[in-house]
Amino acid sequence: MQPLIDQHGRIATDLRVSLTDRCNLRCTYCMPPEGLDWMPADDQLTDDEVVRLIGVAVERLGVREVRFTGGEPLVRRGLVDIVRQVRSLDAGVEMSITTNALGLARTAHALAAAGLDRANVSLDTVRRRTFETITRRDRLDDVIAGLAAAEAAGLGPVKVNAVLLRGVNDDQAPELLAWCLERGYQLRFIEQMPLDAQHGWDRASMVTADEILSSLSSVFRLSPASEPRGSAPAELFHVDGGPATVGIIASVTRPFCGDCDRVRLTADGQVRNCLFARSESDLRLAMRSGATDDDLADRWRVAMWGKAAGHGIDDPTFLQPDRPMSAIGG
Ligand code: 5AD
Ligand code: SF4
Repeated sequence: MQPLIDQHGRIATDLRVSLTDRCNLRCTYCMPPEGLDWMPADDQLTDDEVVRLIGVAVERLGVREVRFTGGEPLVRRGLVDIVRQVRSLDAGVEMSITTNALGLARTAHALAAAGLDRANVSLDTVRRRTFETITRRDRLDDVIAGLAAAEAAGLGPVKVNAVLLRGVNDDQAPELLAWCLERGYQLRFIEQMPLDAQHGWDRASMVTADEILSSLSSVFRLSPASEPRGSAPAELFHVDGGPATVGIIASVTRPFCGDCDRVRLTADGQVRNCLFARSESDLRLAMRSGATDDDLADRWRVAMWGKAAGHGIDDPTFLQPDRPMSAIGG
């Protein structure tokens, strides 16, 4: 086993697999109201191809965690089957999903039975009007039902990821935290990153980790959790003395690139060594041209070696990646 090591000494063991670039919401910070030009069907990996590449990662490259993302991974028809096949490849690999939870109420049990371990749900507000403003869909009730179903199916501890937008929901952090605490969900706030399809991100209007902490501190007593953060991007704080925690993922103002252990596979079979990578490595073409598993593993290692030290969002030369978040996977 030769792991996915890069020239800065990091080893990637956490694989994010995007299963589709499509989504049934239209979050304003992600995509335009009409959606995007979706990936052509032939470009998308088949279920068998996805499972084969995950197998290469787990069996030859030392990957220990697989997270399914999108777009919205629940809109991928073969999802339950993909989960089942990955579980039969390896009993110990940690498998989770990052989802907007639409439809999760229907599928949570099947996913858990197929071997999924955990669910991370994206939810930026618990107010119906604000939800509709952000996602352009009136579906808050489905998300709430999806969260409850995930917890009931044993996909916990359920994590909730929230992005705050200035003038939209930046006054709702304490309310969201109280709501999550009541239900036992672990809330994490994520600083907005320059990954939107419309290129509308603006550093000055981004809600920073410091602002989020100060807003939460007006209602809750926060104390840094003592456990070292390690490669986990969230900084954890005990709420009112614990044991409950809240996390802050300060990707922009306190980057954690030096400890990154992640690698990404897009729905069309491209390895990305970073969310912000400017280039990709095409495993789909290699696979469809007859590459063996050993060949694929070698290509994957080469793709990882060139991973940049950091995202460089603060460099004057920073360029947003060509793919938006919905086509990379969170
Ligand atoms: N910055 C930070 N988080 C984002 N997400 C989507 N776009 C961005 C962005 N530009 C979040 C979603 C979801 C996860 C997949 O990533 O809200 O929680
Ligand atoms: Fe869909 Fe996630 Fe983008 Fe919202 S942020 S439109 S849920 S992919």
